[in-house]
Amino acid sequence: MNNNTLTVLGIETSCDETAAAIVRRTSDGQGTILSNIINSQIEKHKKYGGVVPEIAARSHISVIENVIKSSLNDAKLSFNDINAIAVTAGPGLKGGLLVGLTTAKALSMARGIPLIGVNHLEAHALTIRLIKKIEFPYLLLLVSGGHTQILIVNDVGKYERLGTTIDDAVGEAYDKVAKLLNLGYPGGPIVEEQAKKGDSKKIKFPRPLIYSGDLNFSFSGLKTAVRREIEKSIPLTKHDAENICSSFQDAVISVIINKLEGSIKLFKIKNPKITKPDVVIAGGVASNKTIYNSINNLSTKFGVTLHVPPQGLCTDNGAMVAWAGAERFSKNHIDNLSIEVKPRWPLDPEAKAAIGAGVKA
Ligand code: KG4
Ligand code: ZN
Repeated sequence: MNNNTLTVLGIETSCDETAAAIVRRTSDGQGTILSNIINSQIEKHKKYGGVVPEIAARSHISVIENVIKSSLNDAKLSFNDINAIAVTAGPGLKGGLLVGLTTAKALSMARGIPLIGVNHLEAHALTIRLIKKIEFPYLLLLVSGGHTQILIVNDVGKYERLGTTIDDAVGEAYDKVAKLLNLGYPGGPIVEEQAKKGDSKKIKFPRPLIYSGDLNFSFSGLKTAVRREIEKSIPLTKHDAENICSSFQDAVISVIINKLEGSIKLFKIKNPKITKPDVVIAGGVASNKTIYNSINNLSTKFGVTLHVPPQGLCTDNGAMVAWAGAERFSKNHIDNLSIEVKPRWPLDPEAKAAIGAGVKA
C-alpha cells in the first residue's frame, strides 16, 4: 500500500478527445481534481458522422504537448510535483493509444516519474470514487460509445462481468440513429433532446434479448428497426423524427432496466451481507438524464442506491485516467516502460465471449 498523498497526471487519447488532467488522492481515498483539460475533435469528425481513426491520431499528435502543458499550468504545478503518469493503454483506437502511451513513456523516462498504464474502462468504472466515498463491491452499468456491460467492481483491477453487448454498444446505437435522421454527431445528446419532444409510445420498437434469460444486450436489431421505420415514413416531419427518437430511447431504457434488475438480483445473491447495494452508471451514455431518471425512479423498488458521476466526468476525460492511475498506484500497481497498447482489453479476462460478440465485447 502506498499511504502517501499522490499527485497524478492522467493522459487520455483512446478515441476523439485529447485530454490531460491532474488529480490528487489522499491516503484516506479522497480525490481532488486540480486541472482537467480536454481538446475535443468532434468538429473534425462531424461531417463523417463518426470518428475517423487516421484523423483522430493526427489530431492527438498535434495538440498533446499543449494539452499536457495546460494541465500543469492550470494546476499551478510542474513535473517535480507529479508522483506518477497514468495513461490510457487500451482499449480504443490503436493510433490514438500509441500517441498517448509514447508521450507518457517519454515523459516518464525523461523525468524519472513512475508510469501506469490504465484500462479506459477501469477509468470509467472508478470515476465515481473520485467524487464520493463508494466502497467496493458495487454494481456498474458501463454504457459508452464502444461498450455496454454490467460488471461487479470487486476492487481496483478486480471485475466480474455479468453481461455485455453481443453487437453494437448503446452509445453507438444512439450515434447511428442520429446519423440515419441526419441530426448530427455525437448522436447521444441530440437524440436525447429530440426524444423529449416526441411520444415514446408512438412506435413499438423491439426490445432485443429482453427474454434471453441472460444479462447480455443487443442493439443492432433495434438500429435496423429504426432504419426500416424511417424508410417507411419518408418524407419525415420534424415531429416524426422526435417520435422515432423517443420510441427508440424507450426501447433502450426498457432493455437496460430489465438487465439491470436481473443483475441486481445476482449481485445480492453473490453479496448477501450488503443490504442496499450501490449501483453506478458510467461512460458517455451515463450523461443521459432520461436514462438516469428512469433507473432512479426504480431504485427504491430495486433496493439500491444509484450514483452517476457529473456529466463532464461521464464522457471521456483525463481526470478519470489520472484517478484510476492514483487508485492503482495506491495499491502499488506500477508498470514498466515495456508496456504496449492493447486495443482490446477486457476488464474481466475470465468472462466467456458472448455468442455473437464482435471485437468490442
Ligand atoms: O465514454 P465516451 O465519451 O467514449 C467512449 O469511450 O465511447 O462515450 C461516448 C458515447 C457516444 O456514443 C455518445 O453519443 C454517447 O456516449 N452519449 C450519449 C449521451 N451523451 C453522450 N448517449 C445518450 N445520451 C446522451 N446524453
Ligand atoms: Zn469512454
